[in-house]
Amino acid sequence: MKFFVDTAVVSEIRDLHEYGLLDGVTTNPSLIAKSGRDFKEVIAEICAFVDGPVSAEVASIDYDGMVAEGEHLAKIAPNVVVKLPLTLAGLKACRHFTLNGIKTNVTLCFSANQALLAAKAGATYISPFIGRLDDINIDGMELIRDIRQIYDNYAFETQILAASIRTANHVREAALAGADVATIPAGVIKGLANHVLTDKGLDQFAKDWAATGQSIL
Ligand code: E4P
Repeated sequence: MKFFVDTAVVSEIRDLHEYGLLDGVTTNPSLIAKSGRDFKEVIAEICAFVDGPVSAEVASIDYDGMVAEGEHLAKIAPNVVVKLPLTLAGLKACRHFTLNGIKTNVTLCFSANQALLAAKAGATYISPFIGRLDDINIDGMELIRDIRQIYDNYAFETQILAASIRTANHVREAALAGADVATIPAGVIKGLANHVLTDKGLDQFAKDWAATGQSIL
């Protein structure tokens, strides 16, 4: 499973990039607003050092507006992925970009039927939002499993990008369910390395090593 980081904070992206833990980046209007930075500048800055896909979301909700904005965003760098909402207009725009060789990420997906439509529109990625479904007491992970089954049934090439991930358990379950990608907040990605028994074991090894009085170098 590929890891994308779900942030518009360039320092967080650089940090993960240096650990080699990053396959791509997703942003959305809320993350851009939180960063307090100019949208196109941030996307260009990220694309200058991240080779993988970088999702940049349109702001319009009508077809013509989405096409105009998406074409503009796609010109920033070759690895920009145009992020479009899962509406009929968004699906039509997705078809337009697919026919023109521009990658797309269809976002705000909350049902298997929506995901089926995105695949039929030729989306590169579909983003089912796990956490937001969990928030309203619907099992977000069941949606990932349903989409996996449907895409496999018909050999759709659209990649499942598990989004709205909040916890390490979401990451594990998305991997088990066969998501192709998970987009994850930076803190959750780094937290995946933590285990209390790793810390305990390391403490013990440090004490035992000190008692030997030896040095490796
Ligand atoms: C990513 O593409 C989504 O916009 C993001 O994962 C949404 O996450 P949230 O539900 O935590 O805002």
